[in-house]
This record gives sequence, structure tokens and C-alpha cells, in this order.
Amino acid sequence: MNYENRKAAGIKASPSMAIAMAAKALRAQGRDIIDLSLGEPDFEPPQHVGEAASAAVREGRIRYGASAGTEEIRKAIAEKFKRDNNLIYGLDEITIANGAKQILFDAFLATLEPGDEVIIPAPCWVSYGDIVALNGGKPIYIQCSSEAGFKITPEILSGALTSRTRWVMFNSPSNPTGAIYSREEYQALGDVLVDHPNVLVLSDEIYEHIILGAQPFVSFGEACPGLRDRTLIVNGVSKAYAMTGWRVGYAAGPKGLISSLNKMQSQSVTSVCGVAQAAAVAALNGDQSFVDAAAAKFKHRSQIVTKGLANIPELEFVAPAGAFYAFIGVSKLIGRRTPAGDLLNTDSAVAGYLLESFGLSSVPGEAFASPGFIRLSIAASDEELTGACDRLAKMVASLV
Ligand SMILES: Cc1ncc(COP(=O)(O)O)c(C=O)c1O
Repeated sequence: MNYENRKAAGIKASPSMAIAMAAKALRAQGRDIIDLSLGEPDFEPPQHVGEAASAAVREGRIRYGASAGTEEIRKAIAEKFKRDNNLIYGLDEITIANGAKQILFDAFLATLEPGDEVIIPAPCWVSYGDIVALNGGKPIYIQCSSEAGFKITPEILSGALTSRTRWVMFNSPSNPTGAIYSREEYQALGDVLVDHPNVLVLSDEIYEHIILGAQPFVSFGEACPGLRDRTLIVNGVSKAYAMTGWRVGYAAGPKGLISSLNKMQSQSVTSVCGVAQAAAVAALNGDQSFVDAAAAKFKHRSQIVTKGLANIPELEFVAPAGAFYAFIGVSKLIGRRTPAGDLLNTDSAVAGYLLESFGLSSVPGEAFASPGFIRLSIAASDEELTGACDRLAKMVASLV
């Protein structure tokens, strides 16, 4: 019996989740596994988040709610955009969903006609292409080289735009590369888009606060105010406040687009859980020192990995500017053999060998639409990260 339609059959389950499950299964067999596959902060959210959630339960804020979110959370988000990004949005220009992931889903569901193209600079987050495809669109991956800082240039963007282009996506800081677009880079890309008035821009800014080096974050919305009426800024509390499981993402954009997203939400999940909304309000309105402390922690971890990888010349690696991943070039290993004689012909084979023989779990570059790399999450303890670098060095040394 075939249960799936063509759309469902055409997409894959989240590869990073699948790898995390494989690592878990090996650990359950008693293997010593360092699992650096999932992108999730490994510490608790600020204390006031849990307290606000408990208060919401006590107060009985557990009914169906508005699809756009409570007025309280939209005010907190408006305040956040003003505070962090110098952007002024009205409450009817803001919405929330069950994670940034659902915002993306709603946005494509509401806007794509079958075959519409979505330009996705790659390497890119594992879910973008499948979310586009599930909603009838055609992901157009544009490979951005490490020499170009893994960023799309105005010339390349200009060449990729067609009469079918509906959206262009940006993700800065990027998962998996950590690349950050500067204000000038965004402005040059925005200049290209001025001549394509039907193209929308989706800027995924979920790693805004995880800044690891000297380069600052700038919102696409702040850099390109002229494109405001066709820009959707996506963000959320998952990464900034270690609230991945609370499932609260948010977006700001033109009123017509936001109300369309609300319509999608009202006919799918209705609303975000009221308790989670109260928790997110506490995170957004509360003391923000957590955010800087978390970034400092990730910066330290990035330094550990950068130092560790510098000792392995076969691996290509540039320290990330943001987010919490190490995206490591393994192309020099492809074509080599393990001591057992197995050929490492893809990055997936490298990642598989690394997990099976050295107990280190990573995500192959193929999952990010960019073969030739593996991604390690650096949201792990100093010991795990040092151990990961040792295991990588041993893996490379073992090849014949
Ligand atoms: C680039 C990017 N966007 C969005 C998300 C999803 O975030 P949320 O937990 O808010 O759904 C992730 C999660 O890994 C991500 O890496």
C-alpha cells in the first residue's frame, strides 16, 4: 500500500534528526558517542522563562488563542525589533507560529503557486528545500563557495532570478557556515532586487544573537528599508534563549502577508500554546544578559574547535562568524580508503565512518545542499569538543 502522495514522497525526513537518532541508538548499545549532530543549545533557558510559564498555567492561560499570538507577545516582539534592529513594526505586521520552521511553512503555503522558484543560497539549512517543495515550489540552490565566504554575490543573484522567482532567502548568521552578511553586502543584493518587484525576501535571522567574531549582525530589514513591503523577517526564541522545545517563532512583514500567514495558521494549528507564549514574552522582555553570556560561551567553544582543527591540515575550515556550527571541508578525504578497504566516496561516507569507527556524530554536507563538507554542532561541552577534534584527527590519520 502506498500511503504517500507525490509531494510527501519527494521529501526526506530531517537528516540531522535521523543522524541524532542513529547516534542515540549506538549510545544505547553502550558505545562511547560524542553527538554533535543537532543544533540546539545545551543549557537551560533563563529562570524567569520557566517562572512565567508556571504563572501562565496557574492563571489558566490555556485556551485557544489568536492565530497571530497574544497582544502581549506581539508587543514584546515589536519592542525587540525596535531595541535590536532599529525597526518599527505595528502589531498587525507581526505574527507568531510554532517555531520559525512553521513561519517558513506558512509563508510558502500562502504564497507559492506550483513551480514558483525560491532562490536558496547554499550551503543552507537542511529544511529549506523540503519546506519549499512541500508547498509546491521549486528550490533553486545557488552554490556559494568558501572563497566567497559562503555568501551569494549580486552578480550571481542577478543571474539566478527568473520570471518564476517568487522568493529569495537569506540566512545570516548561517546554519551551517556561520557566514554573516554585512550591511553593504545586503544593500548590494537589495539593489539587484529593486528591479524585480514581484520577488519577496525571506530573511531568517534566528541566529542573530550568536555572534562569534568581530563582524556584527545586521538585519536585512534594517539594511534594505526600501524593500520593506516585500520582506519577511523570521526569528524566534529557540536559539537566542535556549528555548528550542517551547516552539515559538515569530515574523515581521507587510500587513497583507502577515494576515495571510495568520489565515494559514488559523486553519492548521489554530494558535501557539498560551503557556509557551507567556514563556517567550518573559524571554523577550526580561533581562537580556543571558543572550550575551550564551554568545560568549559559544565564542569560547568556537575557539576550541578552531584551535583543534588547525592541527589537521587535511581538513578545510574557516572559523565561523556566527551561529554555533563548524562547517568542515572534507573533500581531501574523499577518494581515500579506510583500513578495512572501504572507499570514502562521499561526505556521507566520511560522516558514517566517523560515527561507526570513532564515535563522533556529524551531519554530512549533502544535507545542506553542499557536498564535500561535514557539520559539527559546537553546542556541546569543552570536553566533548576537544574529544571531537581528537577523534577527527584519528579518523584522518587512519586513512590509507
Ligand atoms: C536556519 C534555521 N532556521 C530555522 C530554524 C528553526 O527554528 P525553530 O526552532 O524556531 O523552528 C533552525 C533550527 O535549527 C535553523 O537552523
